[in-house]
Amino acid sequence: MFICDNIDRDSSGGLTFAGCSVKSLAARFGTPLYLMDEDKIRQNCRSILGAVKKYFGDAGGVLYAGKAASFTRMIAIAAEEGLGLDVVSSGEIYTALKAGADMGNAFFHGNCKTDRDIACAMDSGVGYFVVDCEDELYALEEEAKRRDTVQKILLRITPGIDPHTFKAVATGVVDSKFGCAIQTGAALDMTEKALSCPHLSLEGFHCHVGSQIFLREVFTDTAAIMIGFMISVREKTGYAARILDLGGGFGVRYVQDDPDIDIPSFIEATAQKIITLCDDGNYPLPRVMLEPGRSIVADAGMSVYTVGAVKDIEGYRRYAAVDGGMTDNPRYALYGSAYTVLAEKEIPGEQMTRCDLVGRCCESGDIIQKDVPLPSSLKRWDLVAVCTTGAYNYSMASNYNRLGRPPVVMLTGGESYEAVRRETDEDLTALDL
Ligand SMILES: Cc1ncc(COP(=O)(O)O)c(C=O)c1O
Repeated sequence: MFICDNIDRDSSGGLTFAGCSVKSLAARFGTPLYLMDEDKIRQNCRSILGAVKKYFGDAGGVLYAGKAASFTRMIAIAAEEGLGLDVVSSGEIYTALKAGADMGNAFFHGNCKTDRDIACAMDSGVGYFVVDCEDELYALEEEAKRRDTVQKILLRITPGIDPHTFKAVATGVVDSKFGCAIQTGAALDMTEKALSCPHLSLEGFHCHVGSQIFLREVFTDTAAIMIGFMISVREKTGYAARILDLGGGFGVRYVQDDPDIDIPSFIEATAQKIITLCDDGNYPLPRVMLEPGRSIVADAGMSVYTVGAVKDIEGYRRYAAVDGGMTDNPRYALYGSAYTVLAEKEIPGEQMTRCDLVGRCCESGDIIQKDVPLPSSLKRWDLVAVCTTGAYNYSMASNYNRLGRPPVVMLTGGESYEAVRRETDEDLTALDL
């Protein structure tokens, strides 16, 4: 059983992804290589948007969190599938404009929007700013006033949920660089301030409690805290929110031990909670938005590398070094993230040796995954694949050691096409004066 249903082996043991031979793709496009299964992306979009529409009604919506994988073709696919967009920088806005996305359905996030960001977002017609703090609120009011316009905003609220202990807690995540906490009174204070800004229209509230969340209660508890906050805001100010944006965070499977969650059923449970609490509190049902990133693209991705060296340190371990590394996938170096690693060629019954899969960067922490089983015969020129790399890999890639970023090759209906070309040495010096 492979970690995802778009991975398989052909009759000669060669790895396939989205119905295409990994070996042939590596020969055609070179390595390191990002593969993206377009059909899986579309399937993920449809499943989440379908559930939101089913359980929240037509007013409900899904925003693709572009930070998970942002390039023009990807944003265009999300838009074609009817998703709005979560953007966090002028670069992501520019990409969205190039992709032809509907900027009126774009939500601009971030805890430190510069004056340039604000101006660029307003120029591009971004529908909503998600305001993180007071400094930003007044900077926005100022810019909207200068333009003689009224800008729609949401406030980013910290509900005090710790997604790792799965309990509502009064401290901990309150101490975060994002948002204003309910517990400290900052959220109510910001609401009152926003309501007093004549050039801002407060449309509602946003929260995002974390990522890789596998427990449904985290989503339902978060929703309950947010509705409770909205009801208390209405009691104190008379203001009723029109939008509740609950962020992203659905967990995806990287390794066999990860749970397989049924996202539509999580959405159903969250909707039931919200509808019940709004009914009980006689609160008009807000338009509910979700912002999935990882769960749209993670399992649509696979990275392919060529082995450059296999080194056995007697009595210690085996290292298999590949032609990419933390430059195209920094997630192990950053968070110790787990991944499933596969050899492109596997002969049934072949002996396996555990090894650390490492990159080619001048940095000891340049590890893709520790202690993975790979064929004992693994040697220079063999191909290895890292599964589930569609999210936060290409978008987090760097040019450390002046390594060019790999291309992104899309796969659909057994065909392939390049969506992002390989970065060349010339590209790497293009900005040098
Ligand atoms: C505000 C916001 N929304 C959505 C997301 C997407 O989260 P995920 O990729 O876990 O679905 C993030 C991720 O950091 C975020 O910060």
